[in-house]
Amino acid sequence: MDRYKTVVLGASGLVAQRLQQRLYRHPMFELTSVAGSSWSGMSLEDVPWKLDEKRPDLPDLLIEDVHDENIPATLYEQGIRIAFSALPSQHAVNIEPRWAKAGITVFSNASSFRLTEGVPLVIPEINPLALNGIAEVGHPIVCATNCTLLPLIMPLAPLHNMFGLTKVSVRSEQALSGGGYGLLDKYFGNNEPFDMTIPGEAEKTEAEFRRILEWNGEMDIACNRVRRKDGHHVFVTAEFEHVLSVEKVEDCFQQWNAKHMHNTQPSAPYHPLMFAPKIDDETHLFANGESFEQTPDPASNLKAGMSIVVASIECLNSRTVRFESYSHNTLRGAAGGVVYLAELAHTMKKL
Ligand SMILES: NC(=O)c1ccc[n+]([C@@H]2O[C@H](COP(=O)([O-])OP(=O)(O)OC[C@H]3O[C@@H](n4cnc5c(N)ncnc54)[C@H](OP(=O)(O)O)[C@@H]3O)[C@@H](O)[C@H]2O)c1
Repeated sequence: MDRYKTVVLGASGLVAQRLQQRLYRHPMFELTSVAGSSWSGMSLEDVPWKLDEKRPDLPDLLIEDVHDENIPATLYEQGIRIAFSALPSQHAVNIEPRWAKAGITVFSNASSFRLTEGVPLVIPEINPLALNGIAEVGHPIVCATNCTLLPLIMPLAPLHNMFGLTKVSVRSEQALSGGGYGLLDKYFGNNEPFDMTIPGEAEKTEAEFRRILEWNGEMDIACNRVRRKDGHHVFVTAEFEHVLSVEKVEDCFQQWNAKHMHNTQPSAPYHPLMFAPKIDDETHLFANGESFEQTPDPASNLKAGMSIVVASIECLNSRTVRFESYSHNTLRGAAGGVVYLAELAHTMKKL
């Protein structure tokens, strides 16, 4: 099959580079263009590489100006039909609709349109049919969720389906990279004090959780930053309408995994959930649904870092379960998640 020509919106950011890395050898999508702000007019080769893995041999592209209103139509003329956006939300709100209006479907990591009626907010394993909305709205923007939502909602969605979630309490510990390169660069590997609070994060996570599960129970959520490079860790206590036990919870997770083990998209993990006695923030970062890889290269390995790890499952009483879970924030929670969405849209013939 011919690969779709794509553009990445963002040149130097952590998520932008994760996107470039994933598109390097992607079987469906080709990195045809990059549109940036501070680097526009320069060569992609000149942008400092910020990820731990070696920079792949990316095409030598001239970076377009993401603020130039004529660029979307020009790139459409050149055959580009898909944009992967890694823009900050305050800019995405004006820029993404311009690309959509030019006929380019935008798969976005920004939060600008996640709660907008008519814009699909999708997690492939949970609400794939929301992608049907792409054709209906005339503004082809599709949103991936907040990165903190993944380790929370992926285990809770099957439990909710089976036992009826009534109340949830969650506390997160989120890596520095979740706040972008500036935060990571400033505070990783030193003892400089930083603000652990993440303004607006709890509200965003809660609103997206409610939208995706169409749930209106009671929620108590606190989000905190920790001095770790990558990986968002959540501690969850959840109450249910129906009686459960650790065995029933584990069985529910196994059924969920079995349902998704034949997902054919290149970024689909072998199983969406993996299990461990306790979360180890380093060992469990690149879970691929089958094993915990240690030094994978996401430029050729699209599954590493795409599975959610669940651990320390216990029942506090016959209707309350407690667990911790963990996910890679710039892979499953951002670039990997949004490319997975585009793969699913292709499978569903929505591109
Ligand atoms: N980091 C995560 O774990 C994560 C997870 C989920 C979602 N997200 C979302 O993904 C987006 C990117 O996050 P990030 O972590 O990559 O941030 P980052 O490392 O701080 O990168 C910032 C990006 O914003 C672009 N930018 C800065 N000023 C701009 C302007 N005036 N106009 C247009 N673009 C501008 C930069 O573009 P140039 O490179 O062209 O200068 C750069 O690519 C954000 O919306 C974030 O909320 C991040």
